[in-house]
Amino acid sequence: MAEAKRYGAIISAVERYLPEKVVTNHDLEKIVETSDSWIRERTGITQRRILEGHATSFMASEVARRLLARRQLDPAEIDLIIVATITPDMYFPATACLVQDQIGASRAWAFDLSAACSGFVYALATGAQFVESGRHRRVMVIGADKMSAITDMQDRSTCVLFGDGAGGVLLERSEEAGMGMLDFEMHVDGSGCEHLHMKGGGSLHPASHETVDQRLHYIRQEGRTVFKFAVVRMAEVSLSLLERNGLKAEDLKLFVPHQANLRIIEATADRMGIARDKVMINIDKYANTTGGTIPIALSEAWELGRLQRGDLLLMTAVGGGLTWGSALFRWAI
Ligand code: ACO
Repeated sequence: MAEAKRYGAIISAVERYLPEKVVTNHDLEKIVETSDSWIRERTGITQRRILEGHATSFMASEVARRLLARRQLDPAEIDLIIVATITPDMYFPATACLVQDQIGASRAWAFDLSAACSGFVYALATGAQFVESGRHRRVMVIGADKMSAITDMQDRSTCVLFGDGAGGVLLERSEEAGMGMLDFEMHVDGSGCEHLHMKGGGSLHPASHETVDQRLHYIRQEGRTVFKFAVVRMAEVSLSLLERNGLKAEDLKLFVPHQANLRIIEATADRMGIARDKVMINIDKYANTTGGTIPIALSEAWELGRLQRGDLLLMTAVGGGLTWGSALFRWAI
């Protein structure tokens, strides 16, 4: 909260990495019983990117290198790397440790954060604390997921929804008042685990022939329950955050929601009273990249000139946990 801040934590750079391979809805028609029109009408997705021959750290490191290049920084100037992911390269070490090595960030410490689709906003809130307290000057916050690694290509209700991708921001110290992270609000309802999870591979169901036969190493969800929860909670937490900062939806320049389903995005914006032209949407091209959606969308919005210095930006997400939250920023670049 504002009282505990010594410094501001601004986003000084934002970058993304999307794998080259495109898989269209028509490609999926050849694998499961589905149709391009069903997927487009129910989700807004027309295609997704798929990463081949590499793991999540590859995409996260690409983002990290692009952030360094954008700010012309030496890797040794990074203090901390946080990677939000539910598809780490390995159970351990953390993917953030692999990124630290791959980019040569010799001074940085690093850890992964697991909050599914809310991972990036959770990581943003976490990273900002280190900058605001004065403990660190530069924190990389990256959301990266290779969802194709945990997607069941025999389950048409989930396999059409996800894609691979990564994005991230550099958080840097600022002494300018009122810029960067203004506030955030995060929540959990752990009783919602049953609605969205991957059961296999952890200590509850360690990998075995049985867990593979039962297809437990894939994401499972009750789509309708998650859909309703997402709309209600994203709107609720976002409005609460605005209200406690004395702001209204119309004060926002840009709303960047997690990209899980176009209908969820539109229903959330409607519930909040946000005009459509203030909502960043790119789910049609990339589907749900979990930790990646918000920074990828933010990076595209920035490139499109949809954010100018001083603009108010609200990011929000819901994901497995169930987790949800929003972060409010004043754009500083
Ligand atoms: N193609 C064709 N038909 C399909 C497909 C498909 N790919 N998938 C499901 N169907 C069928 C169902 O079998 C069902 O048929 P039935 O009526 O004969 O039983 C029918 O379509 C309707 O199914 P619903 O599940 O009711 O469809 P709905 O409109 O709810 O859309 C969807 C499903 C897209 C999954 C939606 O519920 C959704 O987006 N939910 C939220 C997903 C989400 O946001 N997840 C969180 C992110 S994941 C994370 O945190 C890691």
